[in-house]
Amino acid sequence: MGDFIHLKTVDSTNDYIKRNIEEFDNFTAVFSQTQTKGKGRLGRQWQSNDDNISLSVLFKNQIGEISLFPLICGLVVCEVIDEFCNTNTYIKWPNDVILNQKKLCGILCESVICANNMNVICGIGVNVNSTKDSFLKNDLTYATSLKIETGKSFDRIKLSKLIANRLIEKICLFNTEGFEKLKLEYEKKLINTKRQVKIIKHDKEIIATCIGIADDGNLLCELNSEIIKINSGEASVRGLYGYI
Ligand code: BTN
Repeated sequence: MGDFIHLKTVDSTNDYIKRNIEEFDNFTAVFSQTQTKGKGRLGRQWQSNDDNISLSVLFKNQIGEISLFPLICGLVVCEVIDEFCNTNTYIKWPNDVILNQKKLCGILCESVICANNMNVICGIGVNVNSTKDSFLKNDLTYATSLKIETGKSFDRIKLSKLIANRLIEKICLFNTEGFEKLKLEYEKKLINTKRQVKIIKHDKEIIATCIGIADDGNLLCELNSEIIKINSGEASVRGLYGYI
């Protein structure tokens, strides 16, 4: 475990690490009680409040395939939440954590090159104690929280420390042993497998059947008896009749 920094408020925990990257050691984790400018994937905003987890963990001098980091983060969040909160979560490719068909957690990994070294910031937002009202007020109809689904409140700091520690363990394992074993664990949690998915790229939509992921983390789908690969930076995926 590296340092665990606890902030009251910040614009974005990812940006906070970016600004201090030279001073921070490998495995530094930053937790903030709120974020004023939380960032989501594909340039979207991420709503953060005092009920949820806003956490970023820094991995310095990485040489492995960094496109796999978001998938590993998703797997770690699933594992920790299932163990700690007694839930049965899944992953919607590439890295949304799903509980009872709704989004519980979003992940944004960013890379920063410093003095020729590749550093990765893993940003994790988990909805912990939010109420239904707070999501509806922000029009987030497909979002949920641990509190909504289990009826219980959870300690955000405890959960954040568990997630940060497990993530450090798993990234170290990935760096020494590669993705093979983690891929099998990931595919067990992937909710899209064998389901029809709507692939949205620019303003085009294709419907295909998900069959799993490739070794590089891209989504594999079957379309007219052909296997196609979907890259998470280029396309997003939805279910046919809703979010999943
Ligand atoms: C998404 O689903 O679009 C990704 C959301 C990622 C949110 C987390 S909260 C902690 C970290 N700091 C940010 O600004 N974003 C990530």
